[in-house]
Amino acid sequence: MTEKKAQLTMDGIDEPIELPVYEGSTGPDVVDVRSLVAKGIFTYDPGFMSTASCDSAITYIDGSKGVLLYRGYPIEQLAEKSDFMECCYLLLNGKLPDSEEKATFIDNIKHHTMVHEQICNLFTSFPRHAHPMAVMIGAVGALSAFYHDDLKINNIEHRKAVAVRLIAKIPTLAAMTYKYSIGQPFMYPRNELSFSENFLHMMFATPCEEYVPNPVLADAMDKIFLLHADHEQNASTSTVRLAGSTGANPYACISSGITALWGPSHGGANEAVLTMLNEIGDISHIPDYIKRVKDKNDPVKLMGFGHRVYKNFDPRAHVLRDAAKNVMKEMGIENDPLLPIAKELERIALEDDYFIERNLYPNVDFYSGIILKAIGIPTNLFTVIFATGRTPGWVAHWHEMISNPFKIGRPRQLYTGPTQRDYPG
Ligand code: CMC
Repeated sequence: MTEKKAQLTMDGIDEPIELPVYEGSTGPDVVDVRSLVAKGIFTYDPGFMSTASCDSAITYIDGSKGVLLYRGYPIEQLAEKSDFMECCYLLLNGKLPDSEEKATFIDNIKHHTMVHEQICNLFTSFPRHAHPMAVMIGAVGALSAFYHDDLKINNIEHRKAVAVRLIAKIPTLAAMTYKYSIGQPFMYPRNELSFSENFLHMMFATPCEEYVPNPVLADAMDKIFLLHADHEQNASTSTVRLAGSTGANPYACISSGITALWGPSHGGANEAVLTMLNEIGDISHIPDYIKRVKDKNDPVKLMGFGHRVYKNFDPRAHVLRDAAKNVMKEMGIENDPLLPIAKELERIALEDDYFIERNLYPNVDFYSGIILKAIGIPTNLFTVIFATGRTPGWVAHWHEMISNPFKIGRPRQLYTGPTQRDYPG
């Protein structure tokens, strides 16, 4: 890629070790440390703060400038001019579709939204009160039982079929998870509706009466899906890649991504935001809460604030802040008691030294939680919505990895346990 080199000098090594340095198309240079293992040296990077685990041409983030690009296109432009279906095509294929390609892609997705009828039986084995993410992990993992024997992951057509099935079926499973939890019948998808309208239909329609999706809410849903569609090598995508690097069934790999997403430091934060706002309960309790957040001995954090990569602002949050206003207005709930709490927390985070010094800005989950609540989506389903939006990203990364030479992911360790010792007696 380039002639740049780095040199590593180290006690106990006679000659400096020369390491190639690669330049990406943009972003930080990368030192290739692969030759170190042969010299008996590992690099140490818990949390992968400084490690590029792969080459990727899908998504670029510049955390210091608040830049997020899908295949080179800024997220703000995509949110304004594009839609989720088009972004799915873009992430998977590396280019925007022309109108015919887009229509064919959408048609293909629409004709794969139903799940095997036996999947319905699977749902009945879960307790009704199960967390929707637990059910999703099971239901998406179960797809591997339906699509395994004939699946050749080295066949590009098979990989494309995997992508279409997952993008099409995960919203259906997400809505089924909700319907099951409230004891309502599953609603079959409707092909005359757009992706996001259909999602609202499967969530909120019943067989008893006509359901007409609200265009403002469908638009907000579409934006939420679009803004979550990819985020380069985050914890869940890296999990999908790691699982996929073993050659495992891709439906099972995506289920492992859903598992990683569930945690409150990642996708679970949108649910945690609402839990936090409810816990605070009233604007007068905010000072005490902030005191706890700043207390090193108290594990409480301001949920929906801070990001591993964005250290200036989260561009997705900017888009959703405006969308949140539209949804509130449409639903006539500008008087929601949680809103003043959210606004005051936002103000404090932008003005208080503790948050400024640590670059803790509202992230995408702060506003998505507020919008989803306004749409009527129950709090414990928020992370399932994130998973639905992130599906094209996960599949695009899996597809990119399998399309190129790759090695099984196998990190090493700094061993700190006992050295060899004899079993007593
Ligand atoms: N509230 C209060 N303090 C915080 C917060 C927060 N939300 N986040 C970080 N800090 C403090 C942290 O205590 C540390 O302070 P100090 O330097 O005094 O020890 C400093 O800021 C650096 O934090 P860190 O934990 O080292 O940062 P990180 O990059 O490892 O963690 C994070 C990033 C997102 C896990 C963290 O900011 C966090 O837990 N935020 C709340 C959860 C959240 O909203 N997650 C959603 C991320 S966006 C969705 C996605 O892409 O997954």
